[in-house]
Amino acid sequence: MEIDLNKIIFFGCGNIAQALILGLLRAKISNKKILVINKNPMHDVFLKKYGIKRIYTNDLGKYKDHRDILFLAVKPKDIRVALDQLRLSNYSGIVCSLAAGINLNKISKSLSSDMVVRAMPTTASAFGLGNSAIYSDAPKSLKLTLVKRILEKVGSVLVLKQEKDMHGFTAAIGSGQAFLMKLLIEYDIELSKIANAKKRKEILINFIKSLVDHLKNDGFEKAIQKIASKKGTTEAGLDTLKKLRGNTILQETFKATKIRSKEIENEFK
Ligand SMILES: NC(=O)c1ccc[n+]([C@@H]2O[C@H](COP(=O)([O-])OP(=O)(O)OC[C@H]3O[C@@H](n4cnc5c(N)ncnc54)[C@H](OP(=O)(O)O)[C@@H]3O)[C@@H](O)[C@H]2O)c1
Repeated sequence: MEIDLNKIIFFGCGNIAQALILGLLRAKISNKKILVINKNPMHDVFLKKYGIKRIYTNDLGKYKDHRDILFLAVKPKDIRVALDQLRLSNYSGIVCSLAAGINLNKISKSLSSDMVVRAMPTTASAFGLGNSAIYSDAPKSLKLTLVKRILEKVGSVLVLKQEKDMHGFTAAIGSGQAFLMKLLIEYDIELSKIANAKKRKEILINFIKSLVDHLKNDGFEKAIQKIASKKGTTEAGLDTLKKLRGNTILQETFKATKIRSKEIENEFK
């Protein structure tokens, strides 16, 4: 059943808020449904460009519909002040915290509200290709359904059964995409030895797009087998990658990310 969405409010207008707003507009959500609390004048240009209304924390008390959703999109270092402002505003709708590493209970307690869920979206939401995780303490609640519906408009959504899996999601999907992009930058450096910037971009785009079909048709292992012939160049390179323990390097990178995510959680207990 189609559930009507009310206001979508962003508390903070930085990277992730702007990515979600762009994705929502792309998905034909009206800019009239979106409201933003912004303290950085630099972001006013963005709000003006997309015709999005700026509101203030004092205005939040007006939004009393249980279907209103506020995305808390400030950095963990700013969360205490933001939570104080939110509590004092008398806002009574749904709160979806995007802050990495800060657990649901902490936010619910601080706001004295059971209308809180957590989500971890990605900036690719701007192109409708986001990957988001959501965690709610009430798996069949309206708050979860509504947040899921919004995030599904900008990509794929994974509902986590346990909050601790947010660390794994943050590592693999939130931060993991940055690690893979770093590898692609290395690839681009290798390409720069033989091609100019324009051609390199073309090659990279074709390669990245081809991954979709490789994945759909064969899966990566089988695709690799098709590329690597016995005693050929790819096999030689793959052997070196194995000797240098390329896979261990990535596993350690994910581990370090999860450790940091848990540290942030402890800093805010
Ligand atoms: N970036 C991502 O890919 C991503 C993905 C998932 C989740 N997250 C989470 O989302 C949160 C935001 O990340 P971000 O990368 O978007 O950070 P960001 O670019 O720094 O944006 C946060 C914005 O919130 C503003 N802000 C801070 N306190 C405020 C307040 N009291 N009232 C109004 N605005 C306030 C900041 O203002 P100033 O500019 O003046 O400091 C800043 O513009 C973080 O907790 C992060 O863990 C980020």
